[in-house]
Amino acid sequence: SVLEMEVEQIKKGSYDHFMQKEIHEQPHSLTTTMRGRLKDGGVLLGGLKEHLKTIRRCRRVVFIGCGTSYNAALAARPFVEELTGIPVTMEVASDLLDRQGPIYREDTAVFVSQSGETADTLHALDYALENGALCVGITNTVGSTLSRKTHCGVHINAGCEIGVASTKAYTSQIVAMAMMALAIGSDQISTQARRNAIISGLTSLPNSVSEVLKLDAEMKELASSLIDSESLLVFGRGYNYATALEGALKVKEVALMHSEGMLAGEMKHGPLALVDENLPIIVIATRDACFSKQQSVIQQLLSRKGRLIVMCSKGDASAVCPTGSCRVIEVPGVADCLQPVINIIPLQLLAYHLTVLRGFDVDQPRNLAKSVTTQ
Ligand code: G6P
Repeated sequence: SVLEMEVEQIKKGSYDHFMQKEIHEQPHSLTTTMRGRLKDGGVLLGGLKEHLKTIRRCRRVVFIGCGTSYNAALAARPFVEELTGIPVTMEVASDLLDRQGPIYREDTAVFVSQSGETADTLHALDYALENGALCVGITNTVGSTLSRKTHCGVHINAGCEIGVASTKAYTSQIVAMAMMALAIGSDQISTQARRNAIISGLTSLPNSVSEVLKLDAEMKELASSLIDSESLLVFGRGYNYATALEGALKVKEVALMHSEGMLAGEMKHGPLALVDENLPIIVIATRDACFSKQQSVIQQLLSRKGRLIVMCSKGDASAVCPTGSCRVIEVPGVADCLQPVINIIPLQLLAYHLTVLRGFDVDQPRNLAKSVTTQ
């Protein structure tokens, strides 16, 4: 029965915590996000189909969300711009409301929310509706306020998420937005080959996620070496700027450790002053167009005796750290714009183990709620 299925779904099974279960569930949740939607080399999103023409004509796409959902939108921004040619701007929902920032009839406002009930996001939705924008919802909750009030949208179908720290919803949100970008851009002949490559990347993504999950024991070991650190920095850029923000958010919200995600391109403009031999710094340096820039960031950090943990593509350990003095996390390579889906997973595992080792509540972090329904 439906009830039995729901009871089954909320059980932790063989896992100690929901966050752990949800991290390890990602090969499956990503499969359900894509199920029935990748067809004959194209993408079919029933909830957007009727609105694609309007979206293609819009002046800009504005992504709006809070917390992890904002970070997922930030991960989508580069490939949405690339595949649609439409400028994308980012708004934290509360900040858009604080500023009463301009939203126009010619805008497509894309609201991202796992629960579909976050008060700030819903208020921003009312505001965008009043201003006449086309409003699109990306949510995990069928029948939520967000999915009812938006003009159209995509359900991410990741399955019920219980841990307060969002994990599987994050990766499914990125994949849902990748499919959205492919659908919007599908009228462009010049990007057909690129779209095909991304579609085949999506198809093999669950397998690569299973592979990266094998880093669990290694991340537990890394967590034990960081247990007494006061702070952790995460540097990313390009496709993986969002990975840096989201990795740091996981660490601060569950492990209760100060952590900041930073744009590597901004390193010399301030953060470099913090570097010494004690502060652990994660640098994301997987293969993409920014790789050589990340190599020089690593060089600069090493020459200041930084304590580095470098995430790189399989086989790249000596390319990212010729001195051998960094700790290296090697991850499987996927299509560059989908790499954030892979790269966040070791950081989710790290945050999880750090929390358990530090003795904090994984599924109910201090002072936080799964769904913030007040402003
Ligand atoms: C709360 C949760 C976060 C979540 C954010 C946005 O702060 O603790 O994990 O990312 O709300 O939630 P939403 O349901 O809108 O994605």
